[in-house]
Amino acid sequence: MFTSALLKKFQGTATPFYYYDTDLLAQTLSAASKSAEKHDIELHYALKANSNKRILKLIKSAGFGADCVSGNEVKRAADCGFKANKIVFAGVGKSDEEIRFAIKKNIFCFNCESIDELKIINAIAKSENKTANIALRINPNVNAHTHHYITTGLEENKFGINVWELEAALAAIHKCKNVKLIGLHFHVGSQITDLNVFKTLCLKVNEIVQWFTNRNIFIENINLGGGLGVDYYNPDKNAIPNFENYFSLFRKFLTIEPSQKLHLEPGRAIVAQCGSLISSVLFVKKGVQTNFIILDAGMTELIRPALYQSYHKIENLTGAKRKTVLKYDVTGPICESSDCFGKSVELPETKRGDMIAIRTTGAYAESMSLEYNLRNKAKAYLAEDL
Ligand code: LLP
Repeated sequence: MFTSALLKKFQGTATPFYYYDTDLLAQTLSAASKSAEKHDIELHYALKANSNKRILKLIKSAGFGADCVSGNEVKRAADCGFKANKIVFAGVGKSDEEIRFAIKKNIFCFNCESIDELKIINAIAKSENKTANIALRINPNVNAHTHHYITTGLEENKFGINVWELEAALAAIHKCKNVKLIGLHFHVGSQITDLNVFKTLCLKVNEIVQWFTNRNIFIENINLGGGLGVDYYNPDKNAIPNFENYFSLFRKFLTIEPSQKLHLEPGRAIVAQCGSLISSVLFVKKGVQTNFIILDAGMTELIRPALYQSYHKIENLTGAKRKTVLKYDVTGPICESSDCFGKSVELPETKRGDMIAIRTTGAYAESMSLEYNLRNKAKAYLAEDL
């Protein structure tokens, strides 16, 4: 991925920075769109994965809708050209102000996470003289078999309405004249690599949809969230996720009617592989049992390893041809021992000033960046900028 011409361009650019390979993003978008079209699936890109305005414009141009989890994300999506009727707003804690803002914008749908929220949306919609479309986010109690911090569909998680609350939710909807039930929403977790999880979800969803059908309630939109994982170990070999396998699975195991629309909300699978965090080596330090590489990028630019102990491939771009290979703990400059990108990482002998790429950082890196230690926000470049 990193040609010597590109490396030269990197060398003239202040580090750390996020680099986005827009060719790869275009190929990923095209693969996802083609396959989604084939299976008649509507895609809403989850902005939380990467809300960089220029990336969003590319995703919007590929025909995606937007899945937002804050008023500012709704605003960002609208500013980047996503049509209001393609914006959904999820989140377990929407403020009154955010709800009012989204109602005024006439977004497609609120993914509603509790009965109390439903009542608040109704009251605010009434005060605005509008009717808000809602989908009930249901907690299906399906284990996503991923890191427990990004597991969302179990009863122990705060998300969604439990199945045993559905009767009460319907009663509330019946009383609330300014909300209209247009769908059901599910999302069980992120970085899911075992597709059986989605099969289990489909079977659960079939039962839940049937529950509504038995009550003569037609559910027009069925949204199964996001969660498709990417290959952090082989970013070049598996640069584009297998959308075909993923989408066809839903069509195989969901028994919904042709008139019921199927929606998905991929975030990571769309943007993760196109991004790399490019950093320079500030110092190489001898430790007692290991050598430390201290980079100028830290957990402030990529918090995933500190937060989820996640793996990201690390490459020394400058020293790629050096013969001696050593083991290093690759760390950042932040005053926290968790500020570590990888332990005992085998790299060519590394020197001060070498350029390092941390791969698969297009998702949940820039969007989760922090100002801790009063760090400057790292710049982001698209391939065509350099
Ligand atoms: N829809 C809903 C309702 C979600 O909560 C999420 C992610 C998505 C869609 C998109 O999921 P994806 O396709 O990206 O897996 N910061 C964590 C990931 C948190 C995901 C939160 N929800 C990480 O860096 O791994």
